[in-house]
Amino acid sequence: MKVFPKDFTWGVATSAHQIEGAHTADGKGPSTWDAYCQIPGKINNGDTSAIACDHYNRYAEDIKLISDLGVTAYRFSICWSRILPDGKGVINQAGIDFYNRLIDGLIAKGVTPYVTLYHWDLPLALQMENDGWLSETTVQAFARYAEICFQAFGDRVKHWMTFNENWCTAVLGHGTGVFAPGRVSQTEPYLVGHNLLLAHAYAVKKFRTGSYQGVIGIANNCDFREPLSNSPEDIAAAQESLEFFYGWLTDPVVFGHYPAIMRERLGTRLPEFTAEESELLKGSADFLGLNHYTTHYASRQAPAQNAVAPGDGNGGMSEDQHLYLSSDPAWPVTSMGWFVVPWGFRKMLNWIHQRYNGLPIYVTENGTAITANGVDEAIDDQERAYFVSEYTQALKQAVTEDGVNVQGYFAWTLMDNFEWCQGYNMRFGLIYCDFDSLKRTPKTSYYAYQSIINESRNSTQ
Ligand code: BGC
Repeated sequence: MKVFPKDFTWGVATSAHQIEGAHTADGKGPSTWDAYCQIPGKINNGDTSAIACDHYNRYAEDIKLISDLGVTAYRFSICWSRILPDGKGVINQAGIDFYNRLIDGLIAKGVTPYVTLYHWDLPLALQMENDGWLSETTVQAFARYAEICFQAFGDRVKHWMTFNENWCTAVLGHGTGVFAPGRVSQTEPYLVGHNLLLAHAYAVKKFRTGSYQGVIGIANNCDFREPLSNSPEDIAAAQESLEFFYGWLTDPVVFGHYPAIMRERLGTRLPEFTAEESELLKGSADFLGLNHYTTHYASRQAPAQNAVAPGDGNGGMSEDQHLYLSSDPAWPVTSMGWFVVPWGFRKMLNWIHQRYNGLPIYVTENGTAITANGVDEAIDDQERAYFVSEYTQALKQAVTEDGVNVQGYFAWTLMDNFEWCQGYNMRFGLIYCDFDSLKRTPKTSYYAYQSIINESRNSTQ
């Protein structure tokens, strides 16, 4: 029987803004998402992230839940404005102290910290004073912030990710405008993507030229694109879509340049790297993170039925891709409207493995949302248990049958939390969080994932 390698990493993931709350505690500065929550109509139900899961105060209880789950790794993000309240000036020691407590608590329980430096909560001052990711000032501020984190935590943290899902910051934050900072533009996403890549490169340079040990990578998201038919046009459409989605923000950190198809289609809308920047970017990821949630069919011509018009259902910018997305009516659909297609995950992993020549991959997020009426319904989350089982099965096939170099898997997410513009309505957690009492209750899927991990461990040689 084929089994996962012995040292395969099983983990669970969260992000600071979605769970911490305590949004003004101990000198924390405001972030773009703190501000965005105050704009009427931006967040479902008028929810705000001010308290969220109150993890800032309840982290010890959460460490126990992580450890009891049986994972050996926990991926979380650092809130930049806790460390530097205005993004670039004075260091807030209380912020550093909080993450020290968290990191030490995890290590004491045998859980390895995997740290993301940026999961979308930009210090508000950088947005207001410097236009956020449209500006070079933010790029340099990020490199300094990253170095402060390496210095403060690098003695214990050996696994780093610079950024989470730059596609979302670029496209949802600056293209369709549904995420903070809420800008709508056809050109800004490519400028923002460019600056995020440069910020990654400068931070990695600090990491590699400092005396830190460990690995550093980037967590990019991608939905899989299966050609709707075997026609060369549809095969090309699917391939180009993957290059626009994952390749856009990953090719530069591996090869030092953007995919050729993007340069061709976008012309001057796509900024260029100088020779020096390109050199700095090339090989700047020790591993590639993949956040994966769904799959679509791609075709050059509009399909007869179940078509998703360009730009719809996938967050925009797809008009630049000259293709149509569609789905199979037989696919189960999550509460987010995302299709459950485990084989798409397997193919996605194979695509990354082939394109990036076997560079180590971590699945840095994978999960599903289920809305529920009340705690009993939410806790009995059979669909999520099924999702985790099917997706980890597809993962196993990719690793053991296809030989894809995946080193770890992080389920999204530990507990129900602030799901960005969906507020608290979309529950992604393995643990139920009651947002009034803040009580945590493990769901059926928590135990299902625990069994998968145990089984994998017991069957490894
Ligand atoms: C993000 C998470 C988010 C999840 C579900 C990913 O895009 O990294 O922060 O909660 O997907 O939407």
